[in-house]
Amino acid sequence: ATIQWFPGHMAKAIRQLEENLHVVDIVFELVDARIPDASRNPEIERLIKDKPHLMILTKSDLADPAQTKNWIAHFKAMGLPAIAVDSKANITTKTVTKIAQSILGDKLAAEQQKGLKERPIRAITVGIPNVGKSTLLNRLVNKRVAQVGDTPGVTKGQQWLRSSSKLSLLDTPGILWPKFEDEETGQKLALTGAIKDKRFASDDVALFALHFFRETYPEALPERYKLSDADLDLSDVDLLLAITKKIGMKDDYDRASERLIQDTRKAKLGRYTLDRMDGDRND
Ligand code: G4P
Repeated sequence: ATIQWFPGHMAKAIRQLEENLHVVDIVFELVDARIPDASRNPEIERLIKDKPHLMILTKSDLADPAQTKNWIAHFKAMGLPAIAVDSKANITTKTVTKIAQSILGDKLAAEQQKGLKERPIRAITVGIPNVGKSTLLNRLVNKRVAQVGDTPGVTKGQQWLRSSSKLSLLDTPGILWPKFEDEETGQKLALTGAIKDKRFASDDVALFALHFFRETYPEALPERYKLSDADLDLSDVDLLLAITKKIGMKDDYDRASERLIQDTRKAKLGRYTLDRMDGDRND
């Protein structure tokens, strides 16, 4: 479920993030590796100001590896350390701890020089709904944490969860709203499952997907839906109709659209990145 973000929800999310920033050393900002731009909260830089900051590209198992590499290079070139994770695999704790330590190196060293006791780094995960905050948190602390809702909740009674002797995380992630900038951003969010309500008609999202895959990954559709060369000359709309017949749904192209969206979300059309990042731009 995804809620509409009213101004009241946004104000509450901001307030909560501001409170939490006082108690953490570093912010883990999560974006979806398939849409590193569309899944970024539009205000994030302004909200977290100069707080040390690690960008974590989630669901990298679903994204195009070459594009993920370009995005990481891009963020690094902007002065923002970045890593990609697959929270369903078993890798992240050590890597994340190490990077957090290297980002905070000077601050931690200064504390110890002042004679303060060594302590775990305190971090919070922040991002839009469905970006993978709970999944990553569970992976990092190695236990099941209560699922968070889509709206900012009460901050009272927050706890620190121990990831390792060197890293602790706030048990409640920071939930921020997605971009509502334009139709295309919305369709990217809908196609990847960041937005699951019916704000976007499934046939529009399916046509967006068709068009994208034809242009960017031309093998994907023919392989998945056994399309002929003649099919590939069709317009997007006619191709959607052809696929509807191919998968045995006659003329029910609403259902076929849903199928195409589900197939895309599960990477059954292959791994893909909707937000494109040119490899050479920042080298
Ligand atoms: P949130 O707390 O930020 O709202 O997100 P959450 O962790 O609940 O994750 C949303 C969905 O994304 C979950 O799927 C979760 O399994 C999936 N997910 C999170 N991280 C990864 C990852 O690194 N790789 C892959 N492949 N999937 C990931 P779900 O519970 O099945 O829900 P849905 O599929 O119906 O959205």
